[in-house]
Amino acid sequence: MAINDYIIAPSILSADFAKLGEEVVNVIAAGADWVHFDVMDNHYVPNLTIGPLVCAAIRPCTTVPIDVHLMVKPVDRIVPDFARAGADIITFHPEASEHVDRSLALIRDNGCQAGLVFNPATPLNYMDYVLDKLDVILLMSVNPGFGGQQFIPATLAKARQARAKLDAYEQESGRRIRLEIDGGVNAANIADIARAGVDAFVAGSAIFGAGKDGDPHRYDSIVAALRAELSAVGA
Ligand code: DX5
Ligand code: ZN
Repeated sequence: MAINDYIIAPSILSADFAKLGEEVVNVIAAGADWVHFDVMDNHYVPNLTIGPLVCAAIRPCTTVPIDVHLMVKPVDRIVPDFARAGADIITFHPEASEHVDRSLALIRDNGCQAGLVFNPATPLNYMDYVLDKLDVILLMSVNPGFGGQQFIPATLAKARQARAKLDAYEQESGRRIRLEIDGGVNAANIADIARAGVDAFVAGSAIFGAGKDGDPHRYDSIVAALRAELSAVGA
C-alpha cells in the first residue's frame, strides 16, 4: 500500500479540552489526516465525554474528516445530530443497536460514511451481510471507555482476518472498505499493526501525550515518527 494511503487519526479524547480548537488546528497542521471524536454516554461505556455541540464547535477548525466513534446506546437517535454537527464518518458498536442494518442506512441517508466497531471479544461476522453499507471497519484494540490503555495483542490476528474479508469483498465489488484500529497505538507497534492489514490508525495518548513534556502544541515529531514507521512497512 502506498504510504499516502495510511490515515493517522488523533483521538481528541487525550487533547487539552480547555484549548480544544487550538489542539485540533495544531494536530492537523502536524500532518494528521482525520480527527477521531470519541462519544461516550456513561451507559454503553463507563465514561462520559462529548456530543454534537462540541463536534459543531470544532468543525470550523479544520476541513479534514471528523471521524465520530459512537460508544452510545441507543445509536439511532443521535445520528442526525452528529451529521448536522459536521461529522463525516460515523461508526457504532453493533451490540448497541437493535437493528444494525437500519443504523448503517440511517448514517448514510444523513450524508455520512458508515462503519461498525468491533470490541476485542466481538466476532467479525457482524459485518458479513452489511458489507455493501460499510465504509469503515473499526477494530478496538482495547476495551472502549478510556484512553491510555495497553494494546491487546490478539487484535493483530483479528486484523489479519478482517483484512482477508475486506480484500475478498473488494475483489468481488471493486469497493474498498477501510480497516481502522483504535486503542494503545504508538510508534513501537504501528508498523506491526499495518503489516496485519490496518490502514487507518487512531492514536490518543501517543500523540497528545507527546506534547506534554515540551511544547504542548507541537505534534509534528510524533506524527512524523508514526509516518516513518509506516513508510518502512511497504518497503
Ligand atoms: C477508547 C477510545 C479511543 C481512545 C484511544 O474507548 O475509543 O479512541 O481515545 O486512546 P489511546 O490511543 O490512548 O489508547
Ligand atoms: Zn475511539
